[in-house]
Amino acid sequence: MAKIGVFDSGYGGLTILREIRKVLPQYDYLYLGDNARAPYGTHSFDVIYRYTLQAVQYLLDQDCALVILACNTASAKALRTIQQRDLPLIKDKKVNVLGVIRPTVEAVPGVTQTGHVGVLATPATVSSESYVLELEKIATDLTITQQACPMWVPLIEAGEHQSDGAKYFVGKYLREILAKDPQIDTLVLGCTHYPLLKEKIEGWLQYHREIEASEFPKPENAPMMQIISQGELVAQSLADYLKRHPEYREQLSKNGTCTYLTTENADRFAQSASLFIGENICAQHINL
Ligand code: DGL
Repeated sequence: MAKIGVFDSGYGGLTILREIRKVLPQYDYLYLGDNARAPYGTHSFDVIYRYTLQAVQYLLDQDCALVILACNTASAKALRTIQQRDLPLIKDKKVNVLGVIRPTVEAVPGVTQTGHVGVLATPATVSSESYVLELEKIATDLTITQQACPMWVPLIEAGEHQSDGAKYFVGKYLREILAKDPQIDTLVLGCTHYPLLKEKIEGWLQYHREIEASEFPKPENAPMMQIISQGELVAQSLADYLKRHPEYREQLSKNGTCTYLTTENADRFAQSASLFIGENICAQHINL
């Protein structure tokens, strides 16, 4: 029987896995964080594609029938090539790889009232324009502004997301995106690490936007800023996918387990991951 693989460059995919396990607790999961090589978001296409393919191949070799790229950078830069070029070469079993951008994008038109949407993401996701292209496919009347946040993933990977340094960089990128478009009423957290900064983001928006009101005047009658994080959206989309695809659903084992793999030190991963997901876990080290 097969498992569901969940892959991220590091800890971020845990924010997706946590929500998937709430909706689909019965299945067996294999989480892989390539922490040794994170962050991916400052690398070129070739590197991100090569690292992601290695991880996907590893998870497929461990009997995963489905692999979720719980990483926007990998979804933006590697998913299509893997689906079109690499998966068709696997003839002996039915496997698929799914990303996180499409399910996220589908939620946006139903949330924004002003039609002004901000996308916060890694430099690689921003340069891929994946969010802009996917959003334009489903809604032509949106004004989309992107903001690369290159310091956020390194801060989280280093366990510094509660620090004053994190507070500084949260303010820096929010200031930059709101200076580009003060009408934004919906911010998409287009990186699976970013929910770990959500409290800081909300705090900055509540406090600084008020006191810096002259710099970022709130449009009159502006609605509250909505923040879209991906976990629940991806979880619901996977549940729908499995309903529509019995050929995958019927391959999956149902013992409700989760195994954690990392390319970094296993104890360090287990310690940080336990904090992020709120339960004690063990991890194993692997090499890709
Ligand atoms: N969680 C990954 C994402 O969603 C972070 C990528 C990185 O390692 O920079 O894009």
